[in-house]
Amino acid sequence: MTIDFLTMPDNEGYFGEYGGQVLPPEMKKIMDEINEAYDQVRKTEAFQKELSSLNKDYTGRPSPIYFASRLTEKCGGAGIYFKREDLNHTGAHKINHCLGEALLARYMGKTKVLAETGAGQHGVALATACALVGIDCEIHMGEIDIEKEHPNVTKMKILGCKLVPVSRGTRTLKDAVDSAFEEYLTDPVNFFYAIGSVVGPHPFPKMVRDFQSIVGYEAREQFLEKKGKLPDVITACVGGGSNAIGLFTAFLEDQDVKIVGIEPAGKGLDTEEHAATMTLGTKGAIHGFECYLLQDGEGNPLPVYSIASGLDYPGVGPQHCYLKDIERITYETADDRECLDAFMVMSRLEGIIPALESAHAIAYAMRIAADMDEDQEILVNLSGRGDKDADFVAQRLGL
Ligand SMILES: Cc1ncc(COP(=O)(O)O)c(C=O)c1O
Repeated sequence: MTIDFLTMPDNEGYFGEYGGQVLPPEMKKIMDEINEAYDQVRKTEAFQKELSSLNKDYTGRPSPIYFASRLTEKCGGAGIYFKREDLNHTGAHKINHCLGEALLARYMGKTKVLAETGAGQHGVALATACALVGIDCEIHMGEIDIEKEHPNVTKMKILGCKLVPVSRGTRTLKDAVDSAFEEYLTDPVNFFYAIGSVVGPHPFPKMVRDFQSIVGYEAREQFLEKKGKLPDVITACVGGGSNAIGLFTAFLEDQDVKIVGIEPAGKGLDTEEHAATMTLGTKGAIHGFECYLLQDGEGNPLPVYSIASGLDYPGVGPQHCYLKDIERITYETADDRECLDAFMVMSRLEGIIPALESAHAIAYAMRIAADMDEDQEILVNLSGRGDKDADFVAQRLGL
């Protein structure tokens, strides 16, 4: 059976049985307005021209594909390649959808753009896009993440956004979403909630996927040009799932390309301190949509944990859930220890300090390379750079 992945989701925002709008009717109405505006504006030549010129001249797209020869030599086996989203302006893939969302907010005449952030990458990218477009920006961030990711906190302040520290619950990503959403609900007509991943109610999983898919379309063409063939395995870390779906979308119909998403196993899958939603979650609802969820017996999200602040979310994008169920994508895990090891090996062998989030996918590539042939290739989405994590890792490892 051939599946036309790009026509997904359906009109109600479902990818198979996941997604939708688990919201009161008045909020559904607002989401439908955003969907309509998005469907209209994205087809206009003016919007496409503006976004593509910003992608090129502002973000620095296309990001290159890099062959990591020393890492490959160390691991043995398959060649390891990176799609360098870490080289984008603001240091991660998040700018790809933030520019799109900020332009849409301006088009819709919204007065304030709001969002949550975990690692601070989405917050910095959104504050940047809002400065560029000229709209007020407000970012909610858990106190634990504020402490861990302070370089990004400083940047957000310099960029002129209002930073709201979140002190409830686990003081991390999920609580930041709850807090930002509450503020959004005070005036959803004039505010725009620019979700930081392929999560939330329809149309956000679709919209963020569309803006991020440039990563995979570029990568597919670049890889073919470089190697005359497609990679054997492509992989990316999965928090909400935006960098992963960004890389994967262009390859979904290439059945010979194995696609693997990497979730954080934190302190171990046999502990309560992980965020392996796809691996150990069950179907539930969070933040206005249905997905695999780490939940208690009453359907409440469980507290989750990862060394990478951008990955500790108890839910996951609905398209990922669907792609797991139809067995097009496999989901594996990497734990904190493997992540830190990959972070250091990548830094010392390649001179590239990766984001802790991305280091999960690097750890997986390092794990499988030796069992593959030398004429095979793995393409990893290097979703961001690790400047934000440098002090934390140095302290943790006593450097
Ligand atoms: C560099 C980087 N990679 C990955 C992620 C995880 O998000 P997603 O799964 O939506 O790509 C984040 C989130 O903050 C991030 O900063």
